[in-house]
This record gives sequence, C-alpha cells and structure tokens, in this order.
Amino acid sequence: MRGLIIIAAALALAGCESEPKVTFTDAAITLPDDPLELPEGPGREAVLENCTACHSPSTMLQQPKVSAEKWQSIAEKMIKVYKAPVDPKAIPQIVQYMVAVQAAGAEQQGAAPAP
Ligand code: HEC
Repeated sequence: MRGLIIIAAALALAGCESEPKVTFTDAAITLPDDPLELPEGPGREAVLENCTACHSPSTMLQQPKVSAEKWQSIAEKMIKVYKAPVDPKAIPQIVQYMVAVQAAGAEQQGAAPAP
C-alpha cells in the first residue's frame, strides 16, 4: 500500500516537471480597408460623433436612400433598440446630413430623385 502511494507521488512530480508545450506566436491581422470618408457638409460632425462608433462611414453611405422622416426614425431606433448613445439634440443635424449626402450621391450616379 505504502509503495503505491510513493509511486503515485513520483508520478505526480514527474507530471509537474514536464513543461507545458504551448507556444505563442505573433499574429498580425489586417482589417479590411474602409477608404470611404464621409463627405464634408453640415451635420457631418454630428454623424461622426453619434453614429460612426458602431457604423463605418462606408456603412452609413451605402444605406438605401430614404426620406428625412425615415432617417429620424432610424436614429430614434438606434437609441431605443440598440441603446446607442446618440444625443437627441443632434438628430436633426444627422437627418439633414444623411438626406443631403444621399441626394448628392444620387445625382452623381445619375439615379432618379427619391419620390
Ligand atoms: C451602439 C451602437 C450603434 C450606434 C451608435 C448607432 N447604431 Fe445604427 N445600428 C446598430 C445596430 C446593432 C444595428 C443593427 C445591425 C444589423 O441589423 O445588422 C444598426 C442598424 C442601423 C441601420 C440599418 C437599418 C436599420 O434600421 O436597422 C442604419 C441605417 C443605422 N443603424 C443608422 C444609424 C445612425 C444614423 C446612427 C447615428 C444616429 C446609428 N445608426 C448609430 C447600432 C448602432
């Protein structure tokens, strides 16, 4: 019985001596480029401060073209549903900017104006 205990202890010690075989290597990841900057215009700062914490500028610029009312409700939805720290006082500027940017984008692409 005593012999068994000694063997067990020896095995336990042997287990401690073997170093863990874990090697850490440096890994670099490259995030996808997001070259699109928000164009200059009134309200740009409001969008940068309130929306781009969660959405990249390109995400903001690639949204379907919607009305001012819809942008208003989207901004409110961000606050209510996603708990976004959006300043309610900034919403009119955000709405104005998004509508203006989308109108300018539609002109560039030769798309028809929103109904
Ligand atoms: C706290 C993070 C956060 C902030 C800040 C935020 N959003 Fe969002 N937004 C989300 C999440 C989460 C979704 C849902 C994403 C999904 O469905 O994949 C979303 C979705 C959207 C969508 C997609 C359409 C929709 O109705 O779901 C639009 C457009 C949008 N956000 C605009 C905005 C605008 C404009 C602002 C600034 C006023 C803003 N977001 C600020 C988190 C945020």
